[in-house]
Amino acid sequence: MLELKGRNIHKTIQPQIGRTILQQAVDNGIDWGFQCTRGICARCRCLISEGMEYLSEPNDAEWDRLEPEELDRGYRLGCQTVVERDGAMKVSHRPYFW
Ligand code: FES
Repeated sequence: MLELKGRNIHKTIQPQIGRTILQQAVDNGIDWGFQCTRGICARCRCLISEGMEYLSEPNDAEWDRLEPEELDRGYRLGCQTVVERDGAMKVSHRPYFW
């Protein structure tokens, strides 16, 4: 299961394998800000508090946009992070500013 926390809307959903965190948030009506969907604006930044092992590895766009310390702490870009397997995942939208 995938627990998604937007600014005000929180939902637990059955994840769609192969789709990004952002796509799943939008599909489920969660208030999850974004702009570029290409890994540039970081408006979709999120914190993975559980289940990183079920997600894709950080891609080049994430390494370019996020600091290594952010990646270490579990921050990812929602538009670049793909759910690869089902499992217990908890993801909160954490942009730099709302
Ligand atoms: S929407 Fe711009 S980095 Fe994800």
